[in-house]
Amino acid sequence: MASNTNFEKYKSDGSLQGNLLEWFDARFPATSMWRGHLSEYYAPKNFNFWYFFGSLAMLVLVIQIVTGIFLVMHYKPDASLNADGIPVAFASVEYIMRDVPWGWLIRYMHSTGASAFFLVVYLHMFRGMLYGSYRQPRELIWIFGTLLFLCLMAEAFMGYLLPWGQMSFWGAQVIVNLFSAIPLVGEPLSIWIRGDFVVGDATLNRFFSFHVIAVPLVLLGLVAAHILALHEVGSNNPDGVEIKKRLTPEGIPLDGIPFHPYYSVKDIVGVVVFLMVFSIIVFFAPEGGGYFLEYNNFIPADPLKTPPHIAPVWYFTPYYSLLRAMVWPLFGIDAKFWGVVAMGGGVVILAFLPWLDRSPVKSIRYRGPIFKTLLTIFVISFFILGFLGTKAPSYAFFDVIPGAPVAQILSAYYFLFFLTMPWWSKIDKYKPEPDRVTM
Ligand code: HEM
Repeated sequence: MASNTNFEKYKSDGSLQGNLLEWFDARFPATSMWRGHLSEYYAPKNFNFWYFFGSLAMLVLVIQIVTGIFLVMHYKPDASLNADGIPVAFASVEYIMRDVPWGWLIRYMHSTGASAFFLVVYLHMFRGMLYGSYRQPRELIWIFGTLLFLCLMAEAFMGYLLPWGQMSFWGAQVIVNLFSAIPLVGEPLSIWIRGDFVVGDATLNRFFSFHVIAVPLVLLGLVAAHILALHEVGSNNPDGVEIKKRLTPEGIPLDGIPFHPYYSVKDIVGVVVFLMVFSIIVFFAPEGGGYFLEYNNFIPADPLKTPPHIAPVWYFTPYYSLLRAMVWPLFGIDAKFWGVVAMGGGVVILAFLPWLDRSPVKSIRYRGPIFKTLLTIFVISFFILGFLGTKAPSYAFFDVIPGAPVAQILSAYYFLFFLTMPWWSKIDKYKPEPDRVTM
């Protein structure tokens, strides 16, 4: 098989590097891993900008881990009050911001990184929907992806408690309290999660432990599984054509090019553009107008003073809207419980997408008007749900159209889009996929 890195020649040239590589290779699959995953991993040659977001998600993961390591060197997960009457955890974040050399930069990179992570992952998931990347044989890649999304949500939620500001405290209070709505086990379950009757020092310590070690480990493991599954079946592409179906006599996909150096170089372009935008936000607008760092969170947590309006960070708000849309008790069970079911169900339903979609073609390029229209409405309603999630339930558009019923209708649409997909994806028109990728 052709290779653009001739290891065999290199190994037998008698040089020190060649000998070292030979020694290493006899003990560890270094060369074969390099080949299998980079220099001889053949990716479709028609990737477009939507294919930047997977590698960018990996970059943000690395940024979060590295900045997180430095934050942990100075942060203290302690809810007790210091001599000035300020919670130690809150004061330690202020200390990082004011006194630790470059601490402000590390902290702003981490807080902006959280928003960047969700932005990149939302775009990455949307690419999957555009090109049907979840369809056979990529179901497992998609399922690992859904699990990654769930873990990311848990990671962000628990990290948000750590600065121990008003929003940290009350946000956690609201969300953990939701579990108490589960019939029979709800009350003891929420106490078990908090480790106390209210969010307190025990909660802070366990969220810290999960945020810095348990969830990141799971995230790393899932990313490895996600990539291994991808490299087993090969990448999809904007045409939805399976490039492994047409091979050269040597067994190389006719429409494939080696990932390295072609896409490693292309991905660097994405990295540079991303880092430019990221830096502008970190240096000039780290609070993101109150959307990345909420203003109420600059006030130390006060269990005796509930903020007038508790809203999660922007990346949770579409799902927060699904939660709030459920206002009716059903089967004698509190509406709060159905809210939790809607919020959780909104994420879990994504995992079933590979089996809900019955279209004969994968990519939006060859799909019909029903898919295009319904997907457009889905995106618009997801944005409106996100917007409404940042507002109080009493919000009205232009002071006239009440937001709550709009959120209920759009929440219903969110689920109907998926639940009716087996039907409309089958009857929709389509154009036959080409044999080869188009450029
Ligand atoms: C930490 C989060 C994630 C990381 C680091 C990550 C990383 C990657 C990378 C590097 C690729 C290959 C490059 C590319 O196709 O863009 C990829 C592909 C893919 N990812 Fe993710 N991903 C993450 C989350 C997700 C989520 C949440 C989903 C969906 C629920 C998902 C679904 C997919 C799919 C379907 C592919 C194959 C795409 C194709 O071949 O067209 N990923 N991912």
